[in-house]
Amino acid sequence: MGEMEDLIELAKRRGFFWQSFSIYGGFSGLYDYGPLGAILKERVYRVWKDTYMGIGAIEIDSPSLTPEQVLKASGHVQRFLDMAVECTQCKTKFKVESLLDEKGIEAVPQTVDEAKKLMSGLELKCSRCGGKLGEPYEHHLMFRVDSTGEVKYLRPETAQGIFVNFRLLKNFNRDKLPMIVLQEGKGYRNEISPRQAIIRQKEFNMAEVEVFLDPDSQGIFQPTMNTIIVLHDMHGKNHEISIPEAVKTGIIKSVDHAFFLEITLRFALSIGLPIPRLRFRQHRKDELAHYSSDCWDLEALINGSWLEITGISDRGTYDLSRHHESSGEKMYIDGERFARVIEPATGIDRVIASLLVSSLSKRESGYSVLKLMPEMAPYPVAVLPLQKKDGLQEKALEIFQKLKLLEPYAYYDDSGAIGRRYARQDEIGTPYCITIDYETLEKNVVTIRERDSMEQIKGIPVDEILSTKGFLGNPVLNKFRK
Ligand code: GLY
Repeated sequence: MGEMEDLIELAKRRGFFWQSFSIYGGFSGLYDYGPLGAILKERVYRVWKDTYMGIGAIEIDSPSLTPEQVLKASGHVQRFLDMAVECTQCKTKFKVESLLDEKGIEAVPQTVDEAKKLMSGLELKCSRCGGKLGEPYEHHLMFRVDSTGEVKYLRPETAQGIFVNFRLLKNFNRDKLPMIVLQEGKGYRNEISPRQAIIRQKEFNMAEVEVFLDPDSQGIFQPTMNTIIVLHDMHGKNHEISIPEAVKTGIIKSVDHAFFLEITLRFALSIGLPIPRLRFRQHRKDELAHYSSDCWDLEALINGSWLEITGISDRGTYDLSRHHESSGEKMYIDGERFARVIEPATGIDRVIASLLVSSLSKRESGYSVLKLMPEMAPYPVAVLPLQKKDGLQEKALEIFQKLKLLEPYAYYDDSGAIGRRYARQDEIGTPYCITIDYETLEKNVVTIRERDSMEQIKGIPVDEILSTKGFLGNPVLNKFRK
């Protein structure tokens, strides 16, 4: 099995995520987060938000339902399309870009004619039934909702909710630039072929940031990080380089844009994504979104393929000038200039998939262990009585209830043999288990087991584990670091 298949199996069995509405057969491109996935999602969002709040961001929360005028002004109604083909026999739909990719052709056709040209001579067949494929056509990626009598769409990006509020936000920000605005929330895309569980969905979790800059000032933000990372440029060349050096050597053209590559990298590293699984890739001209003049994606390596997790796009003055023309509202920063916008837009579900895949490994024993950073683990600590009998269960519950007041994400488990319970906690990434045994009854001390080393430290007084709010900051854990 590939690493994504291993993850999908684990995710369903242990409660990270699974296909939605499965009692009705499941529907492609729709996924639920289970109890552990929901906690992990919150943790990822928290780190993302803290990263941007740390550099002075403000936040808004706007509706998913978006009136047609807004998305006409932004160009999505006209241009948010994929070129598609349908099998003439089994009616399966395919994205032309993916069919070309399978033939080793890197191209994103923007029109039906371009798609026809690129496909001609390739003798493409339906991969499902071998049938003949029909003519390419435009497949619209937005979900249209017109039951209310006025056309609306489910937002394809949260960004427009920020752009349309530019004036109010600028007033709030006391007319100061730069202004960094973030928004988290659902985005919706009618994907032709949703796949790989949470990686390509129709409804997904976005984390978008719009950075408004004076268009005539450069270097308001400066990258400083020495970390070496691969930058894959638009000509297909790899550079192993730090981000400040990439600015100096001209690989990244704009210093402010580069700073937001760096912030994106900081976020990825601070949730525990490893450098060898990361690279930045610059978009080729033919794949840039209609609003973008330059874009670098942070990509993660999953199943041997690179997957976009954050797109850091230079949107220039595109959106504000479009809404200015279309709404009649003055969107200038002063008499006649529009702000320039840099947008780091993250797909949270893809971050979660990358994080889980890169954290999952097998012990020599064959058991799986999810080596999440302790701060990201859904349960930072589990309380396990050695057995249920002889008063151990009662004692464990008494300690657990006290611990739960200090650490709300503490977990309790007394079902099954202790070895299996450790294995279960390893598989869901719990970094520490507290074992209640006969010594606890005699001396009021417990054993703590650490996930990665499987080291056990005995004789820890119960008072010590109940001495701090939150468990991961407890000094008792320093014993594992010596
Ligand atoms: N706002 C970026 C995106 O839609 O991907």
